[in-house]
Amino acid sequence: MNFIDRGRPIGVFDSGIGGLTVVKRLASTLPNENIVYFGDTARVPYGSKSNSTVIEYSLQDAAFLITKNVKAIVVACNTASSIAINSLRQKYDIPIIGMIGPGTEFALKSTKNKKIGIIGTRATIDNKAYSKALKKKNKKLKVFEKACPLFVPLAEEGWIEHKATYEIAKEYLTSLKKKDIDILILGCTHYPILAGVIQKVIGEKVKLIDSGIAAAELVRSEIKRIGLLNHSSNLGSVDFFVTDIPKKFKEIAELFLSAPIKKVRKVELEDILNH
Ligand code: DGL
Repeated sequence: MNFIDRGRPIGVFDSGIGGLTVVKRLASTLPNENIVYFGDTARVPYGSKSNSTVIEYSLQDAAFLITKNVKAIVVACNTASSIAINSLRQKYDIPIIGMIGPGTEFALKSTKNKKIGIIGTRATIDNKAYSKALKKKNKKLKVFEKACPLFVPLAEEGWIEHKATYEIAKEYLTSLKKKDIDILILGCTHYPILAGVIQKVIGEKVKLIDSGIAAAELVRSEIKRIGLLNHSSNLGSVDFFVTDIPKKFKEIAELFLSAPIKKVRKVELEDILNH
């Protein structure tokens, strides 16, 4: 492999903006890697769509990233990771890293009392992606799940410490709190943004698992395995592409990344529909 191959970007896609929480983790774990981010802001949310629609959209999102010559694809969206990962892996032979595997491993390593809570979109929870993956590793685990769909708009609104967020978190999490869990998997891109409120409501004894942290480590080992880790000493670049309203993306992105970003480019949906 030459340095040109190793300089190829890592592709990241999400239904919209939430995947930036994963970009943040990737950039701190692999600061020299170039990243191309694709957010399907025209068709968000994926969390309330059918499995066949999520698969169709995910294949189109990945096809866009392939046109950018990516060396690996990170499926930052937990909903797409839950539903479309096998279809993506069947189609492409580069590493495809989703959130479920790494999040599950992290939770298994961290639990002491073997009682794990999972929160996510309706689609992620209905598909039981995390709970099936956990039970496959250890049948004796006790797993409790809860869909928390309103957390997505609250995070995008920037209502991070807002009293409405706190009230909604209490509504969603009180039943889980009674289950004596010691781990709570944040099974949605947006939830790390609300970690402060979630932690307060669920209690300090429960460890929150951000799948993006574990996924970033897995990305490192996968690109190392295929000999494509970037050895450049320069800081990597991040290029942003969205399917709708780049200006709005930029504003919220700066909140999610806690850093200013430069350019966000718009991709026409028609250009990705035929993949
Ligand atoms: N990115 C999605 C996820 O992680 C949340 C937003 C949506 O529903 O599309 O599941």
